Amino acid sequence: MKFTTAATTNPIDRQRYVGQPLDRIDGPLKCTGMAPYAYEHHKEVPNAAHGFVVGSSIAKGRIASVEIEAARRAPGVLAVVTAANAGKLGKGDMNVAHLLAGPKVEHYHQAVALVVAETFEQARAASHLVRVKYVEEKGKFDLAAEKDKAVKPTWESDPPDSKAGNFQRGFDTAPVKLDATYTTPDQSHAMMEPHATTAVWEGDKLTVWTSNQMIAWCVNDLSKTLNIPKDKVRVISPYVGGGFGSKLFLRADALLASLGARAAKRPVKVALHRHLIFNNTTHRPATIQRIRIGAGRDGRITAIGHESWNGNLPKGSSEVATQQTRLLYAGADRMTATRVAMLDLPEGNAMRAPGEAPGMMALEVAIDEMAEKLNIDPVQFRILNDTKVDPEKPIRKFSERRFVECMRMGAEKFGWNKRNPKPGQTRDGRWLIGYGVASAFRNSPVMKSAARVRLTGEGKVIVETDMTDIGTGSYTIIGQTAAEMLGVPLEQVEVRLGDSSFPTSAGSGGQWGANSSTSGVYAACAKLREQVAAKLGVKESEAEFVDGTVRTGGRNLPLAQAAAGGELVAEDTIEFTGGLDKKNQLSTFGAHFVEVAVDAVTGEVRVRRMLAVCAAGRILNPKQARSQVIGAMTMGVGAALMEHLVVDKRLGFFANHDLATYEVPVHADIPHQEVVFLKEEDELSSPMKAKGVGELGICGVGAAVANAIYNATGARVREYPITLDKLI
Ligand code: MOS
Repeated sequence: MKFTTAATTNPIDRQRYVGQPLDRIDGPLKCTGMAPYAYEHHKEVPNAAHGFVVGSSIAKGRIASVEIEAARRAPGVLAVVTAANAGKLGKGDMNVAHLLAGPKVEHYHQAVALVVAETFEQARAASHLVRVKYVEEKGKFDLAAEKDKAVKPTWESDPPDSKAGNFQRGFDTAPVKLDATYTTPDQSHAMMEPHATTAVWEGDKLTVWTSNQMIAWCVNDLSKTLNIPKDKVRVISPYVGGGFGSKLFLRADALLASLGARAAKRPVKVALHRHLIFNNTTHRPATIQRIRIGAGRDGRITAIGHESWNGNLPKGSSEVATQQTRLLYAGADRMTATRVAMLDLPEGNAMRAPGEAPGMMALEVAIDEMAEKLNIDPVQFRILNDTKVDPEKPIRKFSERRFVECMRMGAEKFGWNKRNPKPGQTRDGRWLIGYGVASAFRNSPVMKSAARVRLTGEGKVIVETDMTDIGTGSYTIIGQTAAEMLGVPLEQVEVRLGDSSFPTSAGSGGQWGANSSTSGVYAACAKLREQVAAKLGVKESEAEFVDGTVRTGGRNLPLAQAAAGGELVAEDTIEFTGGLDKKNQLSTFGAHFVEVAVDAVTGEVRVRRMLAVCAAGRILNPKQARSQVIGAMTMGVGAALMEHLVVDKRLGFFANHDLATYEVPVHADIPHQEVVFLKEEDELSSPMKAKGVGELGICGVGAAVANAIYNATGARVREYPITLDKLI
């Protein structure tokens, strides 16, 4: 099904199931430990051996030799895999550095060997007997030092630069100006479930149970790396214990489990242990961002410029922190630019809201600073500079943009009028109290997505798609979509996900998953409705699907009757090919409000309450969407106050590589969080009229915390995280 124009009324609009705050259908399985994760497929694979990954102890150079004999002779050891004995390997499309090093070493903790043994303990013990000799080379690890040598990332599809009007002239002539630089540190996804895989070969056919967000990408890259045809690779990922972008791609666990299983002639499972994850996998790269804003004394922005630098391995991605600055505020004279400096740190890549998450941490503090210079309330300043069109290409309109409503409603609900605009004035005992606000913005891409739907003779509906559920609730919203389309109770729908033998979905990434994957299910169900109607001798338009029956012309037939002669199966793909993006911009909007208390003596920061107001299309399941947003808000507090991969600039690695030293907040750190969704149906986004919220929820949070700290203390910190040493 091609989605080309504004959706008209369709069965989803009934909202008997879609739009309802239903419990997760996979909830009981998760809570009782019955949902198997990648390392736990004991039932399907009872005899798996254990693989333990050895990571490089240098950041850059060459492997001169690897001695594996001692490890091979150790108790229980079945195989030791290195680049020297793994056979000829290719490279996947998505990983920048190779997943098995040798002879070249591209980053610290890049895998150099896998030891396979009967037990985990034997594999771990033997891994210490692998002797690697390196020829070390001098690497570059300091973003600030390399910034001036950064280059335009021409290897990326999105243009690194954008401009409109004449920024320099507009900025130079503006009566009120800000020119400030902000930094965000390297961050780690720190999801609960580590990267893990169980791999099994049957002849030349490989099956992996893995923890992955994008099944089709994983199949493609396994096939390319192992030099085997795609149809010989099956990837299964029914449950994922968190991803945040760290599991978008094939990583070392899946490749090495496959190689280990081939070498040991046994199923093998590999989990990257926590200490390895931080330097072996990807992270969100640090940024240096310069923002310049010029405005008239009336508070209208006339010029806005945003430049961002990040480091990465050669051909690594840029962190497009400028993304929102292209679209969020009005102003005639504008420029943005992204540059990448070559570093020899582990690969930087997507982490929850790549681009906007760190970009908003800078932009929204700059906006706060500008509002203060202009002596305008920061909520009013944002409202004043709203735009209804893409300010770079005014021919393009936003499909929906309820940004001002979010701001107004948030200000009222939060009690913004109680904020003292003068910093450092409000006290509660030894605590200094401050309020902060920031806009929320994140684009809402749509992706092609396929599904298959079957109607059984018992009237049961089975949905199959390779969509993943990374803790977000895909099972439930997909079940709700099928229930709505076919008019059956949710209990009669079975949802099967995360298997490459199912039709290829959009996968879980870039906050496109919910909207795109349910749209694929919508398309397949629309086809099934036609089949059912035809079986019963009527047209689809004459049939009403409700309560497990089909109503037509006064008749009321059980749905099962249509499939009595044999299961009905329909498969379809939603494709977004209408060129709508030339005329329309799909984005999500919101407002974040935060109250902090800062200890006047120690500088300790406590977040007392948070409110998010979001406008993000139709909310498919408000209970799940709220969980996504409060999780994202909590993660945003981490970015503001704690998260920081500390670079060892001599040796080239992240020094804090465990969850004791890489700190993240939990819900208990924030006593009160509230989320409000505006009623919105985005007719241009998809037949579901939905958009994404999982990444919107983090965008702006860090700045709202920073702005609240400024309001509490008068200390303007432009270098994240805002640890107490920066406040006293
Ligand atoms: Mo997201 S960072 O695309 O999982």
